[in-house]
Amino acid sequence: MLLKQPIVDAINAQVTEEFTASAQYLAIALYFERETLPELANYFHLQAAEEHGHATKLLGYINEAGGMPIIAPTRAVKNDFSSVEECIRLALDQELTVTAQINNLVKVAMENDDYLTNQFLQWFVTEQLEEVSSMTDLLNIVKRAGDNLFRVEEYLSRTPHPGAGANNGAA
Ligand code: FEO
Repeated sequence: MLLKQPIVDAINAQVTEEFTASAQYLAIALYFERETLPELANYFHLQAAEEHGHATKLLGYINEAGGMPIIAPTRAVKNDFSSVEECIRLALDQELTVTAQINNLVKVAMENDDYLTNQFLQWFVTEQLEEVSSMTDLLNIVKRAGDNLFRVEEYLSRTPHPGAGANNGAA
């Protein structure tokens, strides 16, 4: 196969992180549904789908390169929340964590002289910039809106959602 086993192991570990991120975003979307915040719910359903796409993209790469893709159980996620801001802070923390994980994956690839994986991972490096940036924007909007969550809903209703209509990483 084209990949060394430590690379396959590291990518498979990231698959678990992406599926966990997807499950966490789904839990957040469901909370927003309970709170009757449809735009926020829709935004996080889209984020959940994006993360699922990231996991699928990683699995597809392992398969294509002749490795053994492993779908492991996700880690536990938080299911209940006390505020919108708590959710967005959790989401931003998650994106920062995933960014560090992707950077570490690139480091492992470089340490193993794996130029193919390094090149493949550059898509994720760029994607993380977009994801951290959009979640930072959303946190700022939420903080500014205070108790007036209608403003957040209004903002999302006229802001093109990242990934909506674009390649969500499933290709
Ligand atoms: Fe797959 Fe939001 O990182």
